[in-house]
Amino acid sequence: MTSLKGKKVLLGVSGSIAAYKSAFLIRLLVKSEAEVRVIITASASDFIPPLTLATLSKNPVLSSFTYGDKGEWNNHVELGLWADLMLVAPASAHTLSKCANGICSDLLTAIYLSARCPVWFAPAMDLDMYAHPSTRDNLRKLEEYGNRIVEAREGELASGLSGQGRMAEPEELVEELSRFFENDLDSNVGGLAGKNVMVTAGPTYEAIDPVRFVGNHSTGKMGYAIARALCAAGANVTLISGPTALDIPPGVRGIKVTSAMEMHRESLNVFSETDIAVFSAAVSDFRPKNPKGQKIKKEPGVEDISVEMVKNPDIAAELGALKKAGQFTVGFALETHDEEQNAGRKLENKNLDMIVLNSLNEKGAGFGHDTNRVKFIFRNGERMAFELKSKDEVARDIVSAIIRQTHV
Ligand code: C5P
Repeated sequence: MTSLKGKKVLLGVSGSIAAYKSAFLIRLLVKSEAEVRVIITASASDFIPPLTLATLSKNPVLSSFTYGDKGEWNNHVELGLWADLMLVAPASAHTLSKCANGICSDLLTAIYLSARCPVWFAPAMDLDMYAHPSTRDNLRKLEEYGNRIVEAREGELASGLSGQGRMAEPEELVEELSRFFENDLDSNVGGLAGKNVMVTAGPTYEAIDPVRFVGNHSTGKMGYAIARALCAAGANVTLISGPTALDIPPGVRGIKVTSAMEMHRESLNVFSETDIAVFSAAVSDFRPKNPKGQKIKKEPGVEDISVEMVKNPDIAAELGALKKAGQFTVGFALETHDEEQNAGRKLENKNLDMIVLNSLNEKGAGFGHDTNRVKFIFRNGERMAFELKSKDEVARDIVSAIIRQTHV
């Protein structure tokens, strides 16, 4: 039985057919003993009558800045401050886009801008709208602002099409909320105050000649999300990043590198002043032995060429060997088979304190995706397994685990 006893939940309902689910959601929230206040957008009231939501939440449903004819108004700042958590469910593409871009033309979006509490979005829309680059951009922006996205689920949609776009079920949302309050995930805030943390992220590019390189598919999303989550926990973060399309997050010291050798050099420089190191970069294991100074040309009659490769330093292993008491290192493992044994071995070989195991066999996990499914293995043999989550949520879980492990 979930408990949200005494928690103040501000539910924002926007215009999507999934708005009918908000009636069930409110019932479950109230049953879990949360205090619920509801704000709806104008178009949401086409899908669900405010009277239904007011009756279930036992509070008037608010939708506009003013009410009555005596100049009385709904104080959006007060409502934002009242809430322990704001949940926008369903979050339509339109409302997501307004929140991501600071447009506050209705009560719901004005409250979003004033809210100091955690804000969660549970999107619901047609699959193509959900997959559209502008929607993906808006979701990414909201995550960067520190909001949590409960990704839409796959299934049948109101359009008759089938795909990702269904709002997460009310039961799942209430379950997640109760887990959130139980673990007090916000306790990450300040948990690493004053700690120096380095993160390696992204791929490395190993030059063959001035225009060609050997690289890999890493986008850096996971490492950048970790840098943001560490920063939110109060750490002084240095992000040593291979080539990515991402901007260094605000508040993070960024060192951009290209090759494994450069990443190795910068990591060695930073490590001695580091309390915690997270090695999330996909470092190339080998590099061309003799990169050419000039572009390799096609020569008539030459049908094949070979590029001799030499081994790159293993940054995590090398720094693991240099590790002093009080330093904590975290590595990643991406395995295709015998995952846990191989990850456990890597933990030993690289003298890591914690390893994050990604599965390539998992749909939605690994390179380029916005989601990831991970397991943690700790030095003391403890293990933790997680559901498929957004990379920002995974990053918060990693930071919570680091805080727990470094505070014992
Ligand atoms: O051995 P493998 O490449 O699978 O190990 C992955 C872990 O080691 C990751 O944490 C990665 O960032 C780190 N690593 C490293 N330097 C390398 C290779 C991997 O820091 N040259």
